[in-house]
Amino acid sequence: MASRVAFRPEALLCFSPAGTKRSAGSPRVSMASTVGSSTKVDLPKKPFMPPREVHVQVTHSMPPQKIEIFKSLEDWAENNILVHLKPVEKCWQPQDFLPDPSSEGFHEEIKELRERSKEIPDDYYVCLVGDMITEEALPTYQTMLNTLDGVRDETGASLTSWAIWTRAWTAEENRHGDLLNKYLYLSGRVDMRQIEKTIQYLIGSGMDPRTENSPYLGFIYTSFQERATFISHGNTARHAKEHGDLKLAQICGIIASDEKRHETAYTKIVEKLFEIDPDGTVLAFADMMKKKISMPAHLMYDGQDDNLFEHFSAVAQRLGVYTAKDYADILEFLVNRWKVGEITGLSGEGKRAQDFVCTLAPRIRRLEERAQGRAKQAPRRPFSWIYGREVQL
Ligand SMILES: [Fe+2]
Ligand SMILES: [Fe+2]
Repeated sequence: MASRVAFRPEALLCFSPAGTKRSAGSPRVSMASTVGSSTKVDLPKKPFMPPREVHVQVTHSMPPQKIEIFKSLEDWAENNILVHLKPVEKCWQPQDFLPDPSSEGFHEEIKELRERSKEIPDDYYVCLVGDMITEEALPTYQTMLNTLDGVRDETGASLTSWAIWTRAWTAEENRHGDLLNKYLYLSGRVDMRQIEKTIQYLIGSGMDPRTENSPYLGFIYTSFQERATFISHGNTARHAKEHGDLKLAQICGIIASDEKRHETAYTKIVEKLFEIDPDGTVLAFADMMKKKISMPAHLMYDGQDDNLFEHFSAVAQRLGVYTAKDYADILEFLVNRWKVGEITGLSGEGKRAQDFVCTLAPRIRRLEERAQGRAKQAPRRPFSWIYGREVQL
């Protein structure tokens, strides 16, 4: 494990297989992977096909009989998971936080918004844009949930609790990208066309977080990711406040609170799996952590920067919006949330997996501290999202 956790903080952030990392200036078409079961793949260059994952894609690794577990949890999910959705009538909508185009004061409100955004530095915008782009690739995340055996929405309007959750979760999440997108458009600080291109590339590239159609792996991944977005939006809220923009702080804060609710639901599912099948769940947890949790937008590309995600992650790391320490903290939070250290009666393999996940967070932190100690002054990089202006990585 140790050798696979790269020492660069941004690598800790992206957690993509080492081989998928492109070096600056390298042709996008020859991405080689050297980790685990991955093989070198030469990808055809297609204008609508941005960078692709190059690890070997594993499918349907969960034994088919375990699908029954999820069928038997239908009622449980209705009573314990769907309750974490908010009725639409009680939900906030993007319009609640944006100038009202039908009001007399519309232009004045926009002027004020733009005045406030002038006080915010470029590096903050790089983080906010990266977060917004991540939210805007929502079709990919709904697709990912619908790859999971036993819980997928079989018809597109299935009435199982799992399918109802996935659609309603998507509908709640859809407001996040909408709100941030409209806000950033009105701010006048960012190159919307470049951002829109990045979103188009990202949705086109999809993602394989290596959850192998297994709801065990899938819900561990979503538990991790909801907490990661909760932390990240919480930090952009805090920074907006520090820059004196209380309205933007409110926007990021309200999104963070949704993420927290979603984290509660997903971690509850995994808690239940630990109760029913402790061995299978701890093995899944260790498997996901060995493969590393890849960030949902790690394949982002703007048509210019071959290492856009790494550059965005480096800025997020420097600003403290989302850091390698956060990765370790989330892992530790989940270990405690699921009381992994207290599980008894595991198989030999299960015990080894338990030991692995329970000791991983301190090891990641140690690596991160050493990396920080060796870190050199990072260069400045232009970001197309802010009209090519340079930002310190
Ligand atoms: Fe979100
Ligand atoms: Fe989320």
